[in-house]
Amino acid sequence: MSVNRSVSFTGIQFDNPFLLSSAPPTESESNILRAFEAGWAGVVTKTIGLHPVVNVVGAKAKFMRTSPEDACVSMKKRPGAALHSSWNWELISDKTLDWWLPRLRRIKEAFPDRALIASIMAGSGNDKELKNWQHLARDCQDAGVDGLELNFSCPHMDRRDMGSNIGKDQGLCSVVTEAVKEAARVPVWCKLTPATADIEVEAAACFRGGADAIVSSNTFPSIPLIDPDTLEFEINVDGFVSSGGLGGPAILPLSLAKMAQMTQAFPDKSFSGIGGISDFPQALSYILLGCGTVQVCTAAMLDQAVGPNVIKRLLTGLDAFLERHAADGWTGVEDFRGLRRDRVVSQSAIRRPDASDYHSGYEVAEGYAPPQSDRVAAER
Ligand SMILES: Cc1cc2nc3c(=O)[nH]c(=O)nc-3n(C[C@H](O)[C@H](O)[C@H](O)COP(=O)(O)O)c2cc1C
Repeated sequence: MSVNRSVSFTGIQFDNPFLLSSAPPTESESNILRAFEAGWAGVVTKTIGLHPVVNVVGAKAKFMRTSPEDACVSMKKRPGAALHSSWNWELISDKTLDWWLPRLRRIKEAFPDRALIASIMAGSGNDKELKNWQHLARDCQDAGVDGLELNFSCPHMDRRDMGSNIGKDQGLCSVVTEAVKEAARVPVWCKLTPATADIEVEAAACFRGGADAIVSSNTFPSIPLIDPDTLEFEINVDGFVSSGGLGGPAILPLSLAKMAQMTQAFPDKSFSGIGGISDFPQALSYILLGCGTVQVCTAAMLDQAVGPNVIKRLLTGLDAFLERHAADGWTGVEDFRGLRRDRVVSQSAIRRPDASDYHSGYEVAEGYAPPQSDRVAAER
């Protein structure tokens, strides 16, 4: 039986479910062209804004590693240490919209069959800002992009009405999505911050605004470690550091938990999973929870900037997985997408070692037994 790698996601056709996420691997025309040559089915551009940003002096991103000997997490390079995470305090693209537009056009002309998604960001404090979102959306779609990703997730914007501060406010999530949808002719994805208590609340707000998909996770808010010898942060400028974002393997289980919350709450909606993917097994976890596409950043940054070996591994892994499951009649991603979505249940719905019940921490007499639906799901 022949395997079919292609997926349709929010009405966009992808040769395979693997995309580069909005980040340094997609910050330039040359990177994006190289990424398509390497086999990525789609890319989300580095986030484009209307006003120029200025990044901090020195390194904008670094990698943390840990070793089996000491289990110590540090940015210091040492032999035998394995990747733990990426840490960054990079802002959105430092290139203007005018810089991006001819490049988006040329990329689309060179690779008409690959999906080019423009990540965009503006403020949300007033009508003028909402018009800025519409301006970005219109210009990017006129340049030929296949979709828009709204950045409600950058963890290091100071403005209260930008980035993850939008993603933490369900009202703003709805209002901005609705404003963009008014202007958009192409699908609109919302990239949410994982830094909220119940991410399905913000996901619901985006869907109310008309979002075609939710993307998660961006990096998790975090600060670097303090060097025990120098007593300085491992990355700092003049001794100072601000909150930045954690990505890579360390965030995989955290991001999966966020994704499970959303795919369970909205089983019929579209989700793109990000966080800690470097090979097919991690991508598979997101797909089994219900994601239709997945995106990669940290692993690609460490692999010749655009991940030529990462995409090879992902494709080989997908093919091998489908071949292994040929007897189940699986020929494509849709055949196993969401298969484990219902296996995340409340604690009290998990089987106990004997016949006794657990009542979610309540006394039986109070009558707070776990909901029947959870028990049924756990028994499946
Ligand atoms: C250096 C760096 C810059 C990033 N810039 C952006 C950005 O401009 N827009 C955005 O939506 N996400 C940005 N991200 C977040 C990534 O797209 C991705 O969501 C995150 O790194 C988690 O994926 P990973 O574990 O594969 O790295 C950036 C990440 C890094 C490490």
